[in-house]
Amino acid sequence: MLSGIFCSNDTFKKYDFIIANIENASHGFGLTEKNYKDFKEYGINCMTCGNHIWDKKDIYNYIDTSDCLIRPINYPKGTKGVGSRIFDMGEFKIGVINVLGRVFMNLVDSQWEIVAEEIKRIKEITPIIVIDFHAEATAEKICFGRYCSEIGTSAFFGTHTHVQTADESIINNMGYITDAGFCGASDGVIGMEYSTSLSRFLTAIPERYEVAEGKTTQVNAVEVDIEVSTGKALAIKRILCSKNNIEEEKESEKEN
Ligand SMILES: [Fe+2]
Repeated sequence: MLSGIFCSNDTFKKYDFIIANIENASHGFGLTEKNYKDFKEYGINCMTCGNHIWDKKDIYNYIDTSDCLIRPINYPKGTKGVGSRIFDMGEFKIGVINVLGRVFMNLVDSQWEIVAEEIKRIKEITPIIVIDFHAEATAEKICFGRYCSEIGTSAFFGTHTHVQTADESIINNMGYITDAGFCGASDGVIGMEYSTSLSRFLTAIPERYEVAEGKTTQVNAVEVDIEVSTGKALAIKRILCSKNNIEEEKESEKEN
């Protein structure tokens, strides 16, 4: 599970299935059709999202024809797109569900029953089920995570708060982490420029966020081993890589 996007085909090759939360991938807000196609080409198997998925208007042009993008399942009935998918990978099938939290978020339908029913439906086809729970409050993430572990989920990742938590664990045979973190500039404010974030706090006047560029880029992800025959998680590992853009620029200048 990638919390955002990290484009390295060699890294991708070592995984059987890659999920990326892409809701902020097109310059901080939403996902353009072009970026959607780019990410498919990089080898991402499933794209999940959250409250920002509607920010780029062309989402409405491709969400219904996409074969790997899912939007939160608890949007009201009739919302474009789908909230879960089952992927047939040949040696295994995997179901992925995307869900929105309701604490400190814009209200959507209650997730508890909807997800329980969806898990039951997917279980008839495959024991492997992964959930991306896009939510703000840690207590809601932990409680909903525990609930999902009791009804046969293989892995559960929190997203949305952008700071990777250090609580990865196996709960009831399910790999769990409260937040997978994010990919982007380390020296901004959860991906946005410090100066515009600061000014919003100091003046209380909404100002357009700028995406942080910064001197360091970080990649957060979570790796989970799942037993194919049972859907049980065997191991979970947090990943944090970062690169110094300035050092890298200097290196490439030297090479040129
Ligand atoms: Fe979000």
